[in-house]
Amino acid sequence: MTLKMKDMINLKIDGINVSVEAGTTILEAAKKVNVKIPTLCYHPDLCIAGNCRICMVEIEGSRTLSAACAMPVDQNMNIHTNSLKVRTARKHNIELLLSEHNSECTKCYKNGNCELQSLAAEYKITNEMFIDLVPFHHYTIDHYSPSIIKDDSKCIRCQRCVRTCEELQSVSALSVAYKGEHMKISTFLEKSMYDVVCTSCGQCINRCPVGALVEKNYIDQVWDAIYDPSKHVVVQTAPAVRVALGEDLGLENGEIVTGKMVSALKKLGIDSVLDTDFTADLTIMEEGTELLTRLKKALVDKDSSISLPMMTSCSPGWIKFIEHQFPQLLPNLSTCKSPQQMFGALAKTYYAQKRNLNPENIVSVSIMPCTAKKFEADRPEMRSSGYKDVDFVLTTRELAIMIKQAGIDFMSLPEDHFDSIMGMSTGAGVIFGASGGVMEAAIRTAYELVTGKAVPFAGLNITPVRGMEGVKEASVLIEGTLPEWRFLEGVTLNTAIAHGLVNAKKVMELVASGKANYHFIEIMACPGGCLGGGGQPIPTNAEIRMKRNQAIYREDEGMPIRKSHENPEVIEIYKEFLQKPLGHTSHELLHTTYVDRTKK
Ligand code: SF4
Ligand code: SF4
Ligand code: SF4
Ligand code: FES
Repeated sequence: MTLKMKDMINLKIDGINVSVEAGTTILEAAKKVNVKIPTLCYHPDLCIAGNCRICMVEIEGSRTLSAACAMPVDQNMNIHTNSLKVRTARKHNIELLLSEHNSECTKCYKNGNCELQSLAAEYKITNEMFIDLVPFHHYTIDHYSPSIIKDDSKCIRCQRCVRTCEELQSVSALSVAYKGEHMKISTFLEKSMYDVVCTSCGQCINRCPVGALVEKNYIDQVWDAIYDPSKHVVVQTAPAVRVALGEDLGLENGEIVTGKMVSALKKLGIDSVLDTDFTADLTIMEEGTELLTRLKKALVDKDSSISLPMMTSCSPGWIKFIEHQFPQLLPNLSTCKSPQQMFGALAKTYYAQKRNLNPENIVSVSIMPCTAKKFEADRPEMRSSGYKDVDFVLTTRELAIMIKQAGIDFMSLPEDHFDSIMGMSTGAGVIFGASGGVMEAAIRTAYELVTGKAVPFAGLNITPVRGMEGVKEASVLIEGTLPEWRFLEGVTLNTAIAHGLVNAKKVMELVASGKANYHFIEIMACPGGCLGGGGQPIPTNAEIRMKRNQAIYREDEGMPIRKSHENPEVIEIYKEFLQKPLGHTSHELLHTTYVDRTKK
């Protein structure tokens, strides 16, 4: 649709003429002409709060300053973003925030990547203009979650976290408590984040402008393991890490850094650098077989106890969400562990045997785009190797910190290859990092197993399941089945894909109401899937997530093998160790159970 001239608003910002659609805010209009207005409570993924007053601008003819993030443009406005009045007000607002803030930057985890710190530096806030308003040293620090630290003494009460948790995740674990100077961000009954409905997804961390919400880091523990000569440190890297790590190390958004990442990990002193994509492929074998088995029992055996639609179980934030919010649907979850946990269980069994290592001396570390993976690794169910299957989970951000600590010049690193065994993967494993990727990988394999032919999509690209729409639906007609799968002849496999828990909730409500007609559902807790995970480099926004998404599919297209069942190491592990998908050993090591958390 082309806009009529009367729908356009003409105004001036710092002397620059700009023409924008009606309803555009001053902040958005300024961005269009490259005028930067500082913000704190504003985040492009969230609704406008307008509470920090950092984005104040002067509109000619108006007595008071206006918040650029909240104020829509009007015809012939003449706006000044850097007048004396604006600068003075902004500086005072920053000073006020600092007077309520535990400003010990040198001891703060966000030192160097903090929006308040950058503003204080830009405005050269060097002296105390206000007396301390809030006794921040009395605030508690919540350390109990294995994923997240919440430090109220750093909080500037911008409420980005509250909006994230409500608008993007529909969890509402955080809310505003008390009023005035006592106002704080709290949980239900001020319990630890570990003891409430929080899914550990880390989306609030990604949007907190300061150090009030950060991941619990395990960097020192991993260094200790590296320096301990009695330990064999095995690292697995998740698919979404390789398209985002570069952002924290001076590269552009969405650059593929797989080879450099492997190089860096070897330089850090890791004994074996392996790939979660290998167990992503293995997940497809197990999950695909599980889906086909459920379909056979439901369609042929008419077994009414079979729960359909089956739902993916790779995303630990999603698992915790369903355990809290829809426990009646837990039987619908695939029993497959996530690729991280499959890897951990195999690292201390299969890998240990093949390498002739005592599993007791193996330290299994995973590099994940996700903070909920830290919670997942701590679950009591995740010890099927006889040890803690994954010892430490580092986020993409933590790996970047280690690379910097080691003084590695990431840009000039050569490309290296994953080690073997458990280091080989396919394009199907790579796309696990994007929303729709697990579904696409599963369909590529399941269709071929059932029909003996490749999926009827050009270049194996199942485009209907791709993209950033919150809920996607796709159907695949199964035709030309092999004899053992005749019961699926002519069946249209209906699928749904949702990312971001607000979208997961919509799909779950549909399933719970009995109105859904799906066979298989993929859910990822984070916007965009793992590539938008709570452990990925900050900042995040739709454009950055889209660049990572495109990088994931580029990586897939460039892989020599793009179907999980063709991964030679997957074929080998079934021959040598697991025997068959859903077999006894698989059942012991690769599958799990879930907890109804409403009964806790
Ligand atoms: S939150 Fe930012 S400003 Fe506050 S102490 Fe940490 S780095 Fe410094
Ligand atoms: S980690 Fe996720 S669920 Fe928990 S408070 Fe933050 S946004 Fe909400
Ligand atoms: S915890 Fe962070 S995001 Fe939440 S209100 Fe405080 S500063 Fe803002
Ligand atoms: S960014 Fe506009 S009021 Fe906070």
